[in-house]
Amino acid sequence: MNQPLLQVRGLKKAYGAIQAVGGVSFDVRPGEIFGVIGPNGSGKTTLFNSMLGQITPDEGQILLHGQDVSRLGPLELSRRGVGRTFQTLQVFGKMSVRDNLIVAAQEHRGSLLGRMFAPGDSGLGARADALIDQFHIRHVAHKKAGELSYGQQKLVDIAMAFMSEPDLVLLDEPCAGVNPSLVGGISTLLKQLNQSRRGSFVVIEHNMDFVMDLCHRIMVMVEGQVMAIGTPAEIRANKQVLDAYLGS
Ligand SMILES: Nc1ncnc2c1ncn2[C@@H]1O[C@H](COP(=O)(O)OP(=O)(O)OP(=O)(O)O)[C@@H](O)[C@H]1O
Ligand SMILES: [Mg+2]
Repeated sequence: MNQPLLQVRGLKKAYGAIQAVGGVSFDVRPGEIFGVIGPNGSGKTTLFNSMLGQITPDEGQILLHGQDVSRLGPLELSRRGVGRTFQTLQVFGKMSVRDNLIVAAQEHRGSLLGRMFAPGDSGLGARADALIDQFHIRHVAHKKAGELSYGQQKLVDIAMAFMSEPDLVLLDEPCAGVNPSLVGGISTLLKQLNQSRRGSFVVIEHNMDFVMDLCHRIMVMVEGQVMAIGTPAEIRANKQVLDAYLGS
């Protein structure tokens, strides 16, 4: 039996009177690309922040490889193989693209002190170069990240999440604000990374063509609740989902 990589059980998080996440349960299987869709404010980012130790859930459990990680912080989760991209760009504009990638991996290693005593480059440069080639950003690798187009910065941002060689990557709106001509390229890249690393991804995105094409299964959230979980074909044919979200 294939144990799920990630199990979320009855997760709840409220902000005052707002039940941002109201009892969400789902599994992500090894190698799976799992989509999370839903209207603005339906709790998708709050769910991610709980899964990443950024906020502590009020109730519920998160199991990674069968172990309860619900109360661990972001650094510990990163060490256990969870990577992420944020809804907003996190690149350092004044640093080169390549240095952004190297620093992203060093963060994962922990304290500044730990990094200062870490032996030199220790393979990080080679790993950054491999990702730079895979992401087709070699021609801008030595430019300051802030000088790139928004779409290219978004690619750097996604590449940064892969520097720590995570088993599970959570991507919050990888296509947001990106020129439509780049969206297909992001999808192709994520498919390649999924195949070559057998990594699992959870992807929040409003671009339905992207989600339907990329994801193996999709969860629909509405007002902090799970409305449906299924394959893209099942979600497309779900009347309740069409009425609440896709039909609009
Ligand atoms: N730090 C916070 N303090 C108070 N309320 C919050 C906070 N973060 C989120 N909320 C509220 O919780 C609800 C869920 O927000 P969340 O950001 O998780 O939604 P989302 O599905 O990611 O939306 P979007 O698609 O717009 O990114 C919203 O009503 C939001 O206003
Ligand atoms: Mg969000």
